[in-house]
Amino acid sequence: MVDIVLLGAPGAGKGTQAELLAQWLPLPRVSSGDLFRAAIAAGTALGLRAKEYIDRGELVPDEVTIGMVAERLAQPDCAQGVILDGFPRTAGQAEALAEVLARMGRKVDIVPYVCVSPETLLRRLAGRWTCEQCGTVYHEAYSPEKAKGLCDACGGKLYQRPDDTPETQKRRIEVYFAQTAPLIQYFKDRGILVELDGEQDIATVQRVLRQAIRALGLTGPC
Ligand code: AP5
Repeated sequence: MVDIVLLGAPGAGKGTQAELLAQWLPLPRVSSGDLFRAAIAAGTALGLRAKEYIDRGELVPDEVTIGMVAERLAQPDCAQGVILDGFPRTAGQAEALAEVLARMGRKVDIVPYVCVSPETLLRRLAGRWTCEQCGTVYHEAYSPEKAKGLCDACGGKLYQRPDDTPETQKRRIEVYFAQTAPLIQYFKDRGILVELDGEQDIATVQRVLRQAIRALGLTGPC
């Protein structure tokens, strides 16, 4: 059993690394951004509320976000652990997560922090394409699809996220530094932060990440 929180700025590569890790461990990847996008696509009240914030590059309020993620963590597939991607993003969310996991007799075991320069973040966000069907993420320069505009995995059409406009990207990065970056110290103080050089290629970051998880001495494929 292992509970992992991937921390990093927008475009750092959290989703890319979480997906590879999820296949290896195997554990579910729970992405708060994906949960919001699914709610928006389904036209739910939560989705409509979240969209107002996401379109502006702001964080969705804690009272909405915490309940949504806590509900997801209560699903049976999360009983053996989880890889959280994009949550927590505020001190309030971090405290709430600790409480939710404590009620299940668990705690956050490791927080890999994917560290990338602001210039690299903007380059990665600008070139990102996502499959509208299965959510696989590509980059036009660093990890391009084989057939232009089509997902290698399922053949779905690739699209650019609406919150990847230059203005929203800039705002998301500002919001990250103001509201989420303080969590680096929060998790460091608890002795569970592992800093990864996210400037390296995708496979290298994944290799170092797996080494860090192996070092926890867990059972399973590690
Ligand atoms: P969310 O969906 O979580 O977006 P994000 O944090 O902004 O992160 P991204 O998905 O943009 O980036 P990533 O780090 O996953 O990078 P990726 O792997 O795709 O959140 C969206 C919005 O929802 C938020 O702005 C907020 O409004 C709301 N929200 C979500 N969670 C919330 C919360 N907890 N509280 C409140 N509000 C919340 O990689 C990026 C690109 O780079 C890809 O093209 C990829 O192929 C490429 N790439 C990745 N790694 C590498 C590498 N090592 N080398 C070269 N290219 C790479």
